[in-house]
Amino acid sequence: MNKKIIIVGIVILILVVLAGAATIVISQNKTEENENNALNNTNNTENNQMENQVINETEENATINVPNTSQGNIQNTNVSNSKKSLVIYYSRSGNTKQIADYIGEKTGSDVIRLETVKTYPSDYDEMLDYAQEEQRNGERPEIKNKNINTKDYDTIFLGYPIWWGDIATPVYTFLDEYNLSGKKIAPFVTSGSSGLSGTPSDIKREEPNAEILDAMSITSSTLNNYKSLTDNWLSKLGF
Ligand SMILES: Cc1cc2nc3c(=O)[nH]c(=O)nc-3n(C[C@H](O)[C@H](O)[C@H](O)COP(=O)(O)O)c2cc1C
Repeated sequence: MNKKIIIVGIVILILVVLAGAATIVISQNKTEENENNALNNTNNTENNQMENQVINETEENATINVPNTSQGNIQNTNVSNSKKSLVIYYSRSGNTKQIADYIGEKTGSDVIRLETVKTYPSDYDEMLDYAQEEQRNGERPEIKNKNINTKDYDTIFLGYPIWWGDIATPVYTFLDEYNLSGKKIAPFVTSGSSGLSGTPSDIKREEPNAEILDAMSITSSTLNNYKSLTDNWLSKLGF
């Protein structure tokens, strides 16, 4: 009987010891878990802080990038400073004018129409006689355009009608009054049927230090096609 009591007592003691050990292990695990949680929280906080920093740096870079964007403006400034082309023409009855305006539109050039101080006869036959007389006398009719700025342009599209196989006299006045040395001159010419009539050589004689580019001739039979002819000519010239 006593032995039984002792055995039961020992078993109870062992159970109590095991229960105590189990409690200690559980509480240790909980402490580790808490520590891990605390560690995770700390990491999360650090991560969040780092993320915020990255965002801030990105924003900062965006701010730094702003001056880079402004380099586009600098390039634009360069573009606006580059040399441009100019269309100068004389037209009595409008044929040369429509081509001049089209060239201006296609190339983005400034366009200047030469105008004489005196008014030419409106009657065609009278005009033919008048112009023939003017040519024979070597006259240079005064033009209204006084201070044309050719300085800012490197290419001049020069347009004129053929009068009696030659450049219309108001354009000779322009060539006399302006020095186009160093410029490129691209002649475009209208006529009934004569074509260029050798006039690019006349321009070279008047402006020996200019480069005369390939000329375009439009006659009364090709006038309807002036747009496609002008497009081809411009693209050959590199415009
Ligand atoms: C005074 C005068 C002389 C002309 N001489 C010629 C000529 O020699 N050969 C020719 O083919 N056309 C001649 N023409 C026709 C013009 O060159 C042609 O109609 C030209 O396209 C007119 O251009 P505009 O309308 O711009 O003034 C002459 C026209 C005029 C008014």
